[in-house]
Amino acid sequence: MHFISDQLENYIESHSENEPVLLQQLSRETHQKILQPRMLSGHYQGRVLSLISKLVNPKYILEIGTYTGYSALCLAEGLQKEGELHTIDNNEELVDFQRRYFDKSSFGNQIHQHLGNALDIIPKLKPNFDIVFIDADKVNYSNYFHLIMDKLNPGGIILSDNVLWSGKVLEPLKKDDLSTEAIMAYNKLLKDDDRVETILLPIRDGLTISRKK
Ligand SMILES: C[S@@+](CC[C@H](N)C(=O)[O-])C[C@H]1O[C@@H](n2cnc3c(N)ncnc32)[C@H](O)[C@@H]1O
Repeated sequence: MHFISDQLENYIESHSENEPVLLQQLSRETHQKILQPRMLSGHYQGRVLSLISKLVNPKYILEIGTYTGYSALCLAEGLQKEGELHTIDNNEELVDFQRRYFDKSSFGNQIHQHLGNALDIIPKLKPNFDIVFIDADKVNYSNYFHLIMDKLNPGGIILSDNVLWSGKVLEPLKKDDLSTEAIMAYNKLLKDDDRVETILLPIRDGLTISRKK
């Protein structure tokens, strides 16, 4: 579903920060070689992630769902000098692709890849996240939230992608559509949990910002 017209989308992009050249290359190669390139955050959302990260200036970022590394590189732009970004993905075929682009950037030494199921890896990571970006399998969004909350610093930010799920959150729930059901439950969880203040933004497929009080 397109929430706004292509024309308006072009206008918005052309009046926002330009996409860095390295990310243009990453996006092009992802579209040429990797399945499901729609999963990549892309120019506009990428610049949003970059700006939020620069505003927060995090020491420690966790990303759940690396794919080809686009959003990791955007978030890394805001890291402190000694900061670290830890990113998790369970698709081993993407590891070398990600690393090639991480090493072409100036953040190669700060980005740590974790291969495996995020549900197993998150409990092993040390606490004190300043930003967590949740962008993996939708059925586990609520599980990720519960796993990270104790590891998130007060004032820390959770960014959750695809929370409008192509508008399906408004449609009658189809039997066996577990992803939509999970996203709807997750949106309610964020709204109801008193430990966070939450704003759902209609950016791309829906991006929620939640701040831990
Ligand atoms: C939407 S893509 C991430 C896109 C990326 N954040 C970006 O914006 O460019 C989701 C990724 O999550 C990974 N994934 C799905 N389920 C996972 C799980 N349980 N644990 C770790 N990674 C998972 C997939 O392999 C896929 O690469």
